[in-house]
Amino acid sequence: MRLILLGPPGAGKGTQAARIGAEFGIPPISTGDMFREAIKLQTELGKKVEKYLSSGELVPDDLVLGIVAERLAQPDTAGGFLLDGFPRTVPQAQALDGYLAEKGQSLTAVIEIAVDPEILVARLSGRRICQNCGAVYHVVTKKEQETGVCDLCRGQLIQREDDYEATVRNRLAVYARQTAPLIQYYHEAGLLMRVDGAKPIADVYREIERGIRNRVEQ
Ligand code: AP5
Ligand code: MG
Ligand code: ZN
Repeated sequence: MRLILLGPPGAGKGTQAARIGAEFGIPPISTGDMFREAIKLQTELGKKVEKYLSSGELVPDDLVLGIVAERLAQPDTAGGFLLDGFPRTVPQAQALDGYLAEKGQSLTAVIEIAVDPEILVARLSGRRICQNCGAVYHVVTKKEQETGVCDLCRGQLIQREDDYEATVRNRLAVYARQTAPLIQYYHEAGLLMRVDGAKPIADVYREIERGIRNRVEQ
């Protein structure tokens, strides 16, 4: 099973990816998480991409394609994968198609999580992330039990640098301009499945799960 989660910043890609990955036994792969890890470790890649993440601009395609090809070559993707935040441009989507075709593989489905931009600003400015395990919280809609401490691993919760309002608005504009064309791209390929991401987390998950099962049974 090879899946893509597509949707604007704050749509709930990371939240749903963790659940889908656990349920279907496939690794969730977030290019954003990989870049943030590289920045934290100050690797060569991390130093190159830092300015793009902090301003909410896209990392250049060649840098993105390099880390994705490396990640998809890992043995844990043999049974499938779930991409979160990749592809984000038409050239990235074309490169992925080429990469899979070379291995005689194809995508199972592309799940678009659609949410109104006004809701996204509120979601992202209230988001908190576990510095240790990456679990996602929200100050209003998904509060941790003990303030500032991860329920799962007791790591410290932090706010992402790109979650300040001005940067969030830029990320939404970048999505509309550079990533939204992929909706048409995957619709034409007969792969697109759209879910309403404004519903509660558990309802969105149920809708995605049902959609995936329908597709696999076809
Ligand atoms: P990335 O890390 O991919 O960020 P993003 O797309 O902006 O998405 P987010 O992680 O902000 O949102 P999400 O959809 O995962 O939502 P979440 O589940 O956390 O990319 C970051 C940066 O890296 C980019 O700006 C770019 O610079 C670079 N980059 C990455 N990939 C790239 C690529 N392929 N090409 C070029 N550059 C790339 O949920 C958000 C909040 O809402 C949480 O608090 C959550 O609890 C809450 N929530 C979730 N679902 C619901 C719900 N249904 N109801 C209420 N609250 C909800
Ligand atoms: Mg995310
Ligand atoms: Zn944690």
